Amino acid sequence: MVDTHCHITSEYYDNILEVINKMKDNIIIVSGTNKEDIKEVIDLCNYKNVYGTIGIYPTEELDLKLIEDNINNKKIVGIGEIGLDYHLEHNKEEQKEKFIKQLDLARKYNKTVVVHTRDAIQDTYDILKNYKELKKVIHCYSGSLEMAKEFIKINCRLGIGGVLTFKNSKLKDVIKEIDLKYLLLETDSPFLTPEPLRGTKNEPYNVIYVAKKIAEIKNISLEEVLEITTKNAKEQFDLE
Ligand code: NI
Repeated sequence: MVDTHCHITSEYYDNILEVINKMKDNIIIVSGTNKEDIKEVIDLCNYKNVYGTIGIYPTEELDLKLIEDNINNKKIVGIGEIGLDYHLEHNKEEQKEKFIKQLDLARKYNKTVVVHTRDAIQDTYDILKNYKELKKVIHCYSGSLEMAKEFIKINCRLGIGGVLTFKNSKLKDVIKEIDLKYLLLETDSPFLTPEPLRGTKNEPYNVIYVAKKIAEIKNISLEEVLEITTKNAKEQFDLE
C-alpha cells in the first residue's frame, strides 16, 4: 500500500525510523511544506521505501529556488503541498500568486502536484483548470460529489484520508460514486487519525484503515482497494 501524503518530520515524531520501518513493505510519500521541512523530506528520501514531494504551503514563505534545485532528485516525485487556505489566512491574492508560480514550475518539469485547499475550493478549481494537462492530486478531499467530478474532469485524483472513517462523514456518499481509479490513499500524518484510533498520533501504517473503509463503502475486497490504489499511486507519481 502507499501512503501518498504525510508529514513524518522531526517536528512531529521522535521515532521516525520506527514509523518508516513499520511501512517497510509499503511506500510512504512525505510532503514538504516550508524551507525547513523540505530539507528533511529530501533526507528522508534516502530510505528505500520513502519518496517525497516538495512545495511551499499557502501560508509559508515562497522559495522557488529550493524546489527547483531539488526537483531532479529521483525520489522527489511531485510538487506539494501547495494551494490555497482561506481559513488560516485571508491574503488571497498573495496565496494565488504563490500557488500559480509553483504550478508553473510543475508544468516546466512535468511533475504531479499535490494540492491543499481549505475554504477555497472554487478559486482552487478556477486556477487548476488552466493546468489541465498537469497531473494533480486534491489532497484530503472533503468536498461535494459534483466538485469531485469536476476535478476529475481536469485530470485530478482525490487523496482520501482518515476523514472518511469519521462518524457521519459525508465523504462516504462521494466515495460510493467515484471510480476507484481516481482515488489515492493517504493519512496526512500526524493529523486526522482514522477511526478506530482517533485520539492517538496518526502514522502512515494507518492508511490501512482508510483502505478498509473504502472496501466497506464500495462493497469490494480490501485486496482490490490496495491493488488499485497502489497502481494509481505508482502511475500518479511515476514511482519505480
Ligand atoms: Ni498535509
